[in-house]
Amino acid sequence: MSDDGSHTLFSEQFQVTYHSHHGSLQESNTIFINAGLRYLMEKGHESIRIFEMGFGSGLNALLSYLFGKEEVIEINYTGIEAYPLDLETAQKLNYVEILGLDTKSKKVFEDMHRLASFAEASFQFNKIIDRIEDTSIQTQFDVVFYDAFSPDSQANLWEEELMSKMYNALNPGGILVTYCAKGAFKRALKSCGFIVEALPGPKGKREITRAIKPLL
Ligand SMILES: C[S@@+](CC[C@H](N)C(=O)[O-])C[C@H]1O[C@@H](n2cnc3c(N)ncnc32)[C@H](O)[C@@H]1O
Repeated sequence: MSDDGSHTLFSEQFQVTYHSHHGSLQESNTIFINAGLRYLMEKGHESIRIFEMGFGSGLNALLSYLFGKEEVIEINYTGIEAYPLDLETAQKLNYVEILGLDTKSKKVFEDMHRLASFAEASFQFNKIIDRIEDTSIQTQFDVVFYDAFSPDSQANLWEEELMSKMYNALNPGGILVTYCAKGAFKRALKSCGFIVEALPGPKGKREITRAIKPLL
């Protein structure tokens, strides 16, 4: 349980938690929803194509669905996950309860864990079960939610090779948002051509990163 009452998970394999202990919800909302989706909406996007590295508990996917519904924006979400949770663990997560969601949103969250793809009104969902290193991704996204485990546990996921893959996955003007603000990571982003911004982080985190792929 994190400080805002929302559940998080612990990865035995990587010996890390999926979210900040200060609160999964406040973390996801600050980094991915506000610095990512709200930023694009305020720039005039009426539909947003998301690529998420690390589907994990599905919290960012769920919050993206809810954001689209509330703001009447079309959301097309694609997440990649190498080590999917079993359905039983996913069903124990308390996001639906803590957010006070209705039966329809509850079903959407369950479907995110059960299915590889589905469409629900103006929300399209796709999930790739694979390692990011082994997957080729076409240029089509407006935002990358980069939510890998930290560089301390998975250093190779924060280096130039993968950042270049993320750069190529984004449309011109697209953005990558992440909780990581390490110097080496930001240098890797810049080497790929990103313009890098430091933004104030959620509780317990001074800075987060938004990287912009310049317009042609
Ligand atoms: C910080 S957690 C993601 C949390 C998630 N975004 C959420 O909303 O709950 C990192 C995720 O990356 C996944 N992962 C680790 N290595 C990976 C790889 N090489 N390729 C794809 N996913 C990976 C982990 O299994 C884990 O679910």
